[in-house]
Amino acid sequence: RIRKRAVLCRRDIDALSPSFLSIFESLVPAEEEKAKQKQLFQLLQNLVNRKWPNAKLYLYGSCANTFGFSKSDIDVCLAIDDQDLNKSDFLLELADILVSGNLQNVQALTHARVPIVKLMDPITGLSCDICVNNLLAVVNTKLLKDYAQVDIRLRQLVFIVKHWAKSRRVNETYQGTLSSYAYVLMCIHFLQLRRPAILPCLQAMNVTYNVTVENTNCAYFDQVERLREFGVRNKESIARLLWSFFQYWAYHHDYTNDVISIRTGSFISKEAKDWTRRIGNDRHLICIEDPFNISHDLGRVVDKYTIKILREEFERAAEIMQYDPTPSTTLFQLY
Ligand code: CTP
Ligand code: MG
Repeated sequence: RIRKRAVLCRRDIDALSPSFLSIFESLVPAEEEKAKQKQLFQLLQNLVNRKWPNAKLYLYGSCANTFGFSKSDIDVCLAIDDQDLNKSDFLLELADILVSGNLQNVQALTHARVPIVKLMDPITGLSCDICVNNLLAVVNTKLLKDYAQVDIRLRQLVFIVKHWAKSRRVNETYQGTLSSYAYVLMCIHFLQLRRPAILPCLQAMNVTYNVTVENTNCAYFDQVERLREFGVRNKESIARLLWSFFQYWAYHHDYTNDVISIRTGSFISKEAKDWTRRIGNDRHLICIEDPFNISHDLGRVVDKYTIKILREEFERAAEIMQYDPTPSTTLFQLY
């Protein structure tokens, strides 16, 4: 079911950019928030190292990939080299240490898909989740951050798309819609495929960064300061990109056959990945390949009901970008 529509663009599309840019600016966290995050991170590092001197903490997710909104919580990964570590016991011990360090609302969620300890810091007011040895997330956070350095339009597009997804309640994996991480991959892929391209495919370039974590090799070109001019031949405005992004997911994406892949900067067929059938709970109704863990489809949480919701939201957004007199308010109307 691919509905092709005539590709038309509203005449005043570029004139809508300033209104979207001011929304972007309003969502960017202030410097003092970043400072608070650092302060909490340092406190945690000290507490953890007192007990486990060889443990190292990393920030990951939106507090570290430059796609975080203001007032967002922080995600921390604790890396510890211990062959016979029992994660549940470890998280419980960690929780004790955090409680003795005066952190509040400390909770060990040992049975979650990604087991974590949650906490709230009364000094900064920030909440935090700590996971253990989830280093692929640390590395994919760096990849996202590196892409964001290449062209400012990625960060702008992601902020607006995330804001839309949160307002419309299609950013809730436990409800069968997509994670923020999935939306960032969709935005990167979209910008890789513009002509002229706005983003390169860093994993297809010569390797300047190479690590192996969790038995997965992660290698790509990370000297992104040398790519600052990469997208300049493409002059598309943020409003035009947003409009095309929603058009693409509303009317042009081939949901039946295609997998989007930022690793290759192109499409892969579902056939080639063997993602054509439902296996267990993985349904592959919208396919987004993880850049490193390539057997992982970020769309696997989407089911036959939520795919409809998602596609209707993409269509609603595309229509608003096409016809609405004030898209920068209508787009984000709460669901
Ligand atoms: N992650 C992952 N695999 C997933 C989901 C998430 O590896 N299936 C990792 C990624 O490193 C991602 C981080 O977990 O950056 C946090 O994911 P998510 O909460 O979706 O993204 P955030 O950027 O933190 O967005 P938000 O601001 O909505 O919290
Ligand atoms: Mg997050």
